[in-house]
Amino acid sequence: MKKILLATEKAFVKEAVDKIEAICKEANYELIKLENYKDPKDLIAAVPPVDAMIIRSDIVNKEVLDAAKNLKIVVRAGAGYDNIDIKYAAEKKIVVMNTPGQNANAVAELAFGMMLYAARTWFTPKSGTELRGKKLGIHAYGFVGRALAAIGKGFGMEMYAYDPFVDKSVIAKDGVIPVDTVESLYKTCQYVSLHIPATEKTKKSIGHALLSLMPKGATLVNTARKEVIDEEGLLKMFEERPDFRYLSDVEDTIKDHVLEKYKDRAFFTPKKMGAQTEEANINAGIAAARQIVAFFEKNDLTYKVN
Ligand code: 3PG
Repeated sequence: MKKILLATEKAFVKEAVDKIEAICKEANYELIKLENYKDPKDLIAAVPPVDAMIIRSDIVNKEVLDAAKNLKIVVRAGAGYDNIDIKYAAEKKIVVMNTPGQNANAVAELAFGMMLYAARTWFTPKSGTELRGKKLGIHAYGFVGRALAAIGKGFGMEMYAYDPFVDKSVIAKDGVIPVDTVESLYKTCQYVSLHIPATEKTKKSIGHALLSLMPKGATLVNTARKEVIDEEGLLKMFEERPDFRYLSDVEDTIKDHVLEKYKDRAFFTPKKMGAQTEEANINAGIAAARQIVAFFEKNDLTYKVN
């Protein structure tokens, strides 16, 4: 009987877990649960017998992969897989997959909610501004970017997107203006929402040079990854531009420092929670379990990323 480990330091809602369990049961697999664990050692201790793993932002590094002697597949129930050593997994012939799009709406709703929160002066009685007619820059037009555009459209925002990997016609079809350079996105838009993955190329790519191009009222929303931010540049922006606001869901290293000095211009969620909705948990959880079954039963490699 195949053993599937559900390892989630940030647990899914019960309904998602029940659904994952039902899919495993139907396939005659055993589901082992390691939820809300506190110590990475608990993960290392849990992996030796398992054939497959479903994870979220849980760190799957060399140590975990070496301990997982029977492992054939890891599915990241979500989009970003920068938490997994995919190269080392490939060397060990372990397949890594993600579940693209399954939690995208949840992340987009949070990003938009944070923009609204800033526009309405952190929900204080102070006069705010409206989002209608304002320019929203969508930095990367993947599943989250697209979901954000759909919400922005309802709010009557003027939307722009930069994504060199997406055909301009796809962006334009949604009523979003594709721009040719990342600089022009930042130059044009008062609101910019980040949806780029953390890769060697994107790490620290959002810094002072780009942010200082933004017009008055510059507001950066980060539901992507902290690694894409050049934190020194971000701090310089706070120092130089009293109009600059930053709202984040990525557990930034400089969070405490920013809150101490610029608390009226920054907001941080207490824990990364963009994908933390019942719907996203259920969608991503079901997709991950089904992908594992399809992999074992039909050698289906759709969504393989390594
Ligand atoms: C993702 O990459 O899918 C999101 O960042 C959500 O991550 P989480 O599953 O750890 O909440």
